[in-house]
Amino acid sequence: MAKIGIGWAFVSDNGKRRVQEILDANRLSQGPRVYEFEKKFARLHAQKYGIALNSGTSALHVGLEALKEKFNWQPKSKVLVPAVTFIASSNACLHAGLEPVFVDVEAKTYNINPNLIEEKIDKDTVAIMPVHLFGQPCEMEPIVELAEKYNLKIIEDCAEAHFATYKNKTVGSFGEVAGFSTYVAHTITTGVGGVVTTNDRELMEISRSLLAHGRACTCEKCVASDPSKVCPLRLKTEMDKRFMFVRLGYSYRIGEFEGVIGLDQLEHKDFIMSTRKTNAEYLTENLRDVQNYLQLPWYPDYVTHSFMMYPIVVKKDAPFERRDLTTWLEKNNIETRPMMPLLNQPIYKKIFGDLEKNYPVAEWINRCGFYVGCHHGLQREQLDKIVDCVHEFLHGEKFSCR
Ligand SMILES: Cc1ncc(COP(=O)(O)O)c(C=O)c1O
Repeated sequence: MAKIGIGWAFVSDNGKRRVQEILDANRLSQGPRVYEFEKKFARLHAQKYGIALNSGTSALHVGLEALKEKFNWQPKSKVLVPAVTFIASSNACLHAGLEPVFVDVEAKTYNINPNLIEEKIDKDTVAIMPVHLFGQPCEMEPIVELAEKYNLKIIEDCAEAHFATYKNKTVGSFGEVAGFSTYVAHTITTGVGGVVTTNDRELMEISRSLLAHGRACTCEKCVASDPSKVCPLRLKTEMDKRFMFVRLGYSYRIGEFEGVIGLDQLEHKDFIMSTRKTNAEYLTENLRDVQNYLQLPWYPDYVTHSFMMYPIVVKKDAPFERRDLTTWLEKNNIETRPMMPLLNQPIYKKIFGDLEKNYPVAEWINRCGFYVGCHHGLQREQLDKIVDCVHEFLHGEKFSCR
């Protein structure tokens, strides 16, 4: 049996034909397909504007910089981020000249603990960044209440949670701005890529400008991408507007290949989402008997989980360590990844010192959490293999966890 990986990039035959069309049309850089993808992606997340760019990290970085500019945040203003997330969430704050302040997470959901947010807010706090980890929406109601109470902005990190919902509202629609990743293995992928979404025209315009070197022109759809058309705005300014730069920007663009692959993925989104959910539920159903030792995903009935991955945490009193189990799974050709260690990363220890001891839930997850795949390319026999391997490990001679 082939390796049971954590992700799968699926492009339909129609998608492949469209890639060929891009090659034939000889327009590789950002053009009509990217705009179409942005529009559809934003609409599916109940937002007016989508801005596609080269990564989820860039999406968060640009989103934060846009907020910083619009609301005149001072350098080193503070953004509250969960103590368990992929390092890109807090790195984006640092890249934007802001200070991430970590908040411990809930032991059951691994998401930012809303009860611990208020004690971290001070006069320099400007925003909260909830991260919907593994596809599970954060507990948004109290987070939105706190943001309103303290006049904080919300930037949602939706890198892992396309189409997930909380109380019938899609992730990405709770704050001023959201950042998604479309890196391979994410629910919707364009190979590499990301999307900023927002309802705010000004934030959209700043984001568009930032991703293209700080350009003055920020039209939602650049008519210049059609060689037969002439931009009416372009020569209205003293300097050609397309080559006039009004802020310090970045080179974060994507091209038409990513645009068509993204469109193809969106066309198959129902299949992708429902298969992931079915796969995750199958794993949970068949691993119920190991819950003495392993914590499986839990989520309330008012969220829809988009299951980018299937997280598992070894419980504190288990007679084995995470490494024993993940080594066994890897030996059996089942890919595993450690569950988002952040505060114990060498670079963070260097920047922030030894913070981990102040975050007991994060510390437990850092030592004991991992994830396996539940993606839409997995077949029933592969899911059974995961289940069987976990059972073999627990019931084997070494641990006899009956
Ligand atoms: C929670 C989270 N935020 C941000 C990112 C960054 O996305 P990218 O790898 O596309 O830069 C990731 C990527 O895996 C992620 O998991």
